Amino acid sequence: GIVLGTGLGRLIDHIESAVVAHYHNIPFFPLATVEFHSGKLIYGTLENKKVVVMQGRFHVYEGYEFDEVTYPIRVMRKLGIKKLFISNAAGAINLNFKKGELMLIEDHINFTGQNPVVSQDDTLGQRFTDMSQAYNHALLEQAKQICLEKQFNYHQGIYAGVLGPSLETSAERRMLRTLGADAVGMSTVMEVIAANQCAMQVLGISAITNMALGDENQQIDTIAEVLQYAALAGEKIGVVINSLFNTS
Ligand code: HPA
Repeated sequence: GIVLGTGLGRLIDHIESAVVAHYHNIPFFPLATVEFHSGKLIYGTLENKKVVVMQGRFHVYEGYEFDEVTYPIRVMRKLGIKKLFISNAAGAINLNFKKGELMLIEDHINFTGQNPVVSQDDTLGQRFTDMSQAYNHALLEQAKQICLEKQFNYHQGIYAGVLGPSLETSAERRMLRTLGADAVGMSTVMEVIAANQCAMQVLGISAITNMALGDENQQIDTIAEVLQYAALAGEKIGVVINSLFNTS
C-alpha cells in the first residue's frame, strides 16, 4: 500500500493495469473536500507486485476526524495489504539536513494531541498498540541500501508530527530540536499508528522541503518552496519505491 504526500504523486504514472475506485464510491470513505474531488484509490501492479495507492490524502488539519484520516489505512488492511509505504513533505529541524534531501523515518514523535486508536471498537486491533517498532527495521535497511546504491543524499531520523495547519513558531522549532526531532510535518503519525494497530509493516520517507531552523537565519516558509523541493525529492522517493518493489 502506498500513501503519497504533498507534491509526491508522480509515482502513480508507473502503476500498470490500474483499476480506479473514486473515493465517493467507497462506502464510509471521508466526504471529499474540493481539493479531493479527484480522490481515488488505485489498484494495479508496480514491478509485477500488487499495489494499492491512495491518490489524495486526508489530514486532521483539514477538519477531518482522526478516524476519517485513518479509515483508508484500515480499508487497505482489509484488502490484504501488509506493507505500507508512506511519504510526506517535512521541514528540517536537524541543522545538517538540506532542502531536497530524503529522510528515512526511523521513528516518530506524535505532537498532534490525537490518537486514532481511541475508540470503543475493539475489532480494529489492539487498543494498547505496541509502537516499539513503528517503522519496520528491515524495510528501513532495504531503503538505506537502495539510497546508497543510487548515491542519494539521505538521512535517517525522527519525524515530529504536528497538527498544523499554521507552521511552528521559531520557539517551537527549537523545542522540537531539543526534544530529538530531525524533521517536522503535519501528516503520517495518525496513519502509522493505525497501521501498527492493524499489524502492517511501515516504511516512511520524508522529502525535506524547507529549513525549520527556528533561529536568526529562519526564512519565511512558502508553499511554493515546499512544492518545488517536494518535486525534487519526490523523483528520488519514486526511484526508492520502484527499487523496493523490484527487490523485495
Ligand atoms: N512544518 C510543518 N509541516 C511541514 C513543514 C514544516 O516546516 N514543511 C513541510 N511540511
